[in-house]
Amino acid sequence: MNTLSDKVAIVTGASSGIGRATAKLFAREGACVIVGACRENALQSLVKEIVAGGGQAKLLAGDVTSEDYAKALVDLAVDEFGGLDIGFNNAGTSGRSVATHEKPTNEWDHEMITNLTSGFLGAKHQIPAMLKKGGSVIFTSSFVGSTAGMPQMAAYAAAKVGLVGLTKALAAEYGTLGIRVNAILPGAVDTPMAKEFGDTPEIVEYVEHMHALKRRSTPEEIAQSVLYLASDHASFTTGTAMLVDGGVSICKT
Ligand SMILES: NC(=O)c1ccc[n+]([C@@H]2O[C@H](COP(=O)([O-])OP(=O)(O)OC[C@H]3O[C@@H](n4cnc5c(N)ncnc54)[C@H](O)[C@@H]3O)[C@@H](O)[C@H]2O)c1
Repeated sequence: MNTLSDKVAIVTGASSGIGRATAKLFAREGACVIVGACRENALQSLVKEIVAGGGQAKLLAGDVTSEDYAKALVDLAVDEFGGLDIGFNNAGTSGRSVATHEKPTNEWDHEMITNLTSGFLGAKHQIPAMLKKGGSVIFTSSFVGSTAGMPQMAAYAAAKVGLVGLTKALAAEYGTLGIRVNAILPGAVDTPMAKEFGDTPEIVEYVEHMHALKRRSTPEEIAQSVLYLASDHASFTTGTAMLVDGGVSICKT
């Protein structure tokens, strides 16, 4: 029996990186997966890949800052697969690294709504679909959500810390209804987003050196931890901010 047999999952930010790796792993472990992100083409190739491997997946492209989109993802899960057990709210943006006193307020707003409000919108619409038999809601925060001191990334840091607060509040609020809520806090992961920080050998080496394990993670390694939180193996785990960060949060550079 696969770990997620008979489960239905939504994965946002599934067009690349952590979301894509997690959607593939969820499907391999037996879940029916609704994949969401901005880019429809990338989602189409992901669904093809999952279906070719014997899994089940449907896509819906859209913007996670839209409440209509958050609702439409849940409606698709219910219509196509009969319910919802897992909501992996993973889409996010690093935003532009800039001195905070020079940050245009509209950029701050965009990063907060994309990284934090999107999590609220996802959970707001996923939770009602889980009320009958419980479920698992997971947010992708960041090691920055634990250590927070990241110069020139104030909006990203504030949003990722905010996701940890959202996680704990929802876990306390919905525990009696069998809904577990957790956050995953990755260290540096080799994804397209990481490349936005620069991917010269010097920058990669500097970033790797920040971690106790002296390397970045693959998206697949993060997906394994998300799988744990999504699965019944984590049946007594709720309200956690789970570091999967190669030790970056305990190292000094
Ligand atoms: N890569 C890292 O080092 C790292 C470290 C810690 C946390 N994270 C977090 O992991 C999550 C996934 O990032 P990744 O590293 O896999 O990067 P990525 O660039 O590969 O993936 C980001 C995903 O989010 C989607 N997305 C972004 N804005 C969206 C929007 N408005 N509407 C819908 N979809 C949107 C993109 O389409 C893409 O699918 C993010 O929340 C990110 O903050 C990444």
